[in-house]
Amino acid sequence: MQKLKIRGGKPLRGDVRISGAKNAALPILCASLLTAETLTLRNVPQLNDIGTMLKLLAQMGVTAQRDGETLALNAGSLDNPVAPYDLVKTMRASILALGPLLTRLGEAKVSLPGGCAIGARPVDLHIKGLEAMGATIRIEAGYIHATAKRLKGARIFMDTVTVTGTENLMMAAVLADGRTLLENAAREPEVVDLADCLIKMGARIQGHGSDTITIEGVATLHGAAHAIMPDRIETGTFLAAVTATGGDIRLLNTQPGTLDAVIEKLRDAGATIASSADQISIAMHKRPLSINVRTAPYPAFPTDMQAQFIALNTIASGTAVVTETIFENRFMHVQELVRLGARIDIEGNTAIVHGVDKLTGAAVMATDLRASACLVIAGLVAEGETLIDRIYHLDRGYDHIEKKLVALGADIERCN
Ligand code: EPZ
Repeated sequence: MQKLKIRGGKPLRGDVRISGAKNAALPILCASLLTAETLTLRNVPQLNDIGTMLKLLAQMGVTAQRDGETLALNAGSLDNPVAPYDLVKTMRASILALGPLLTRLGEAKVSLPGGCAIGARPVDLHIKGLEAMGATIRIEAGYIHATAKRLKGARIFMDTVTVTGTENLMMAAVLADGRTLLENAAREPEVVDLADCLIKMGARIQGHGSDTITIEGVATLHGAAHAIMPDRIETGTFLAAVTATGGDIRLLNTQPGTLDAVIEKLRDAGATIASSADQISIAMHKRPLSINVRTAPYPAFPTDMQAQFIALNTIASGTAVVTETIFENRFMHVQELVRLGARIDIEGNTAIVHGVDKLTGAAVMATDLRASACLVIAGLVAEGETLIDRIYHLDRGYDHIEKKLVALGADIERCN
């Protein structure tokens, strides 16, 4: 199994180009199921999760042509509305095929995603919303079986803000009969990117980016071309890394406006940050100050940046309080950081991080995608050598991160 070997202590310098966003690309790939015409996507990241989604779509009958970061998808011969357990168990975002299949073909059989390292993560709100639109749904042998002649517009209040739930129901509603209102909807930029793509395909959507989205159903959608938005979590990960290691970097092909909460916290830590339309420059030449963080739905501080900020706080001056309000089990990285010499106490959904003067390299293990990014940042800071195991987690959501870090002067390599 591949590992990452990092020799820490070097500042990061230079330019890094940000890739397309995983969490925008995954629902947008599923949007191809909504039309018989070709959807052409640019800025598609090179990630294992994208590969898994393409496998899932291919076995449904979707054809795909890839040329670097450009992907042409066609669901004209869609004939198998099934998302099998073997694929869904490797990537719970496969649930995003449910809404599009049901609204396009009137039937869908999608495996329930099952448990996850960071929390229970049920999909009850996805199912409840589809039932409100008139779908008949039964759960049998671990599968969601859904049927509907044609979904009907409905008013749907989601009592918890859910990103993929909002995306699934929005995709189901675009071909439904009548108007759908999604209330307490997710406001994440990835939801907006999906809506922008659907509108280019002929969908009628308003209010995306707010907590109330209105969709007027149409009979059919057509083909379109769309560029996937830059990855704000990849951007945030590099910004947190340089704030921890010190240095000066420039992030290209990014979208600063999607990271206000993160940038504000890094400025509080002492970083100097300047941004323009699609670039961010950051400089850090002193020990960071500890920063308190509380995760919540967008536009508040993203849970997908929590682990990286815990890594940053391990060597900051002072004590930080980090509260996780979205997922009930998202501190798996803490005990690995303690192996590097960090001092962190956990009390319920709060981590109290006591900044130490230095971390020392050791062998550690990644447990999920963002936990692995956290360990990379800690390894870049730690004295000596850090060896990170189970980096397949990292490859699911970061496009060649070690190549990008080497270009910024880091001493990092993949090894067996
Ligand atoms: C999306 O997951 C992201 N994944 C996650 O990113 C991200 O952490 C999360 O949103 C929150 O921002 C993708 O977009 C593919 P939720 P999602 O539904 O949609 C509860 C990463 O690292 N809930 O918004 O699955 C749920 O248990 C990944 O890139 C229900 O109770 O998250 C959680 O506590 C990790 N019932 C809360 O809502 C439901 O039906 C928010 O989850 C749905 C969700």
